[in-house]
Amino acid sequence: MDDHTQPAAVRARGIVKSFGTGDTQVTVLRGIDLDIYLGEMLLLVGESGGGKTTLLSAIAGILDIDAGDIDVLGVPLSRLPPGKRTVFRGQTMGFIYQQFNLLPALTAAENVAIPLLIQKIGRHEAIQRARAMLDRVGLEDRTEFLPKNLSGGQQQRVAIARALVNEPRLLICDEPTAALDGPNGQKVMALLREVGRSPDRCVVVVTHDSRVFQYGDRMARLTDGRIVGIESIVREGTA
Ligand SMILES: Nc1ncnc2c1ncn2[C@@H]1O[C@H](COP(=O)(O)OP(=O)(O)OP(=O)(O)O)[C@@H](O)[C@H]1O
Ligand SMILES: [Mg+2]
Repeated sequence: MDDHTQPAAVRARGIVKSFGTGDTQVTVLRGIDLDIYLGEMLLLVGESGGGKTTLLSAIAGILDIDAGDIDVLGVPLSRLPPGKRTVFRGQTMGFIYQQFNLLPALTAAENVAIPLLIQKIGRHEAIQRARAMLDRVGLEDRTEFLPKNLSGGQQQRVAIARALVNEPRLLICDEPTAALDGPNGQKVMALLREVGRSPDRCVVVVTHDSRVFQYGDRMARLTDGRIVGIESIVREGTA
């Protein structure tokens, strides 16, 4: 995977991001350069509070950056006006948030259907596809439950189904297995892996979970606001 012949799906250059002003200002990202290629799963690691979620939000165009450029699938995302950014995100990206961000008044199936409804897919088809996706994360018997009646791990799997239902080309995952036990974590990682294996899709995963490392193609480390090292991950049997 080191010999990247394709253009990067995500090309981030010189990303700077601070929060606050004056004495309380913290600069979290201090010049991030990062490429994510089609057909790969890139893992992003680093200490708590180091800026991993901030970087994912910048790549998704959810957060405005102070300096630098982010291109996604050849589109200059960081230069698009907010409305166009939102439309582009809806068409191309799935995001699994660290906090699951489920809508409390909607059932599991309705939550998963949201990205499809936004794309103007009819309600009946959207709910059918949402139920099929929930089946793939092992929640076929919970499709009509509200989030408050689901366990933490089940809510996380609803959030994962919602990120995958639209078949995004760029899948962004913030600690996707934090609330999952071994078997469910493996099931989810196999699904994410499948996305990363597709030649025209890619996945970036923030994780502290060493069980996840074996699924990645490369691992990038975020330290002191910069990407300090990117290693290829050699898996047994695929080296
Ligand atoms: N909206 C905000 N306003 C002010 N500071 C913020 C904001 N969002 C993040 N920060 C600060 O930016 C720093 C990085 O936060 P971030 O959430 O990106 O870290 P992280 O690497 O994802 O950590 P963790 O592994 O604990 O999730 C933290 O010090 C945090 O306090
Ligand atoms: Mg975080």
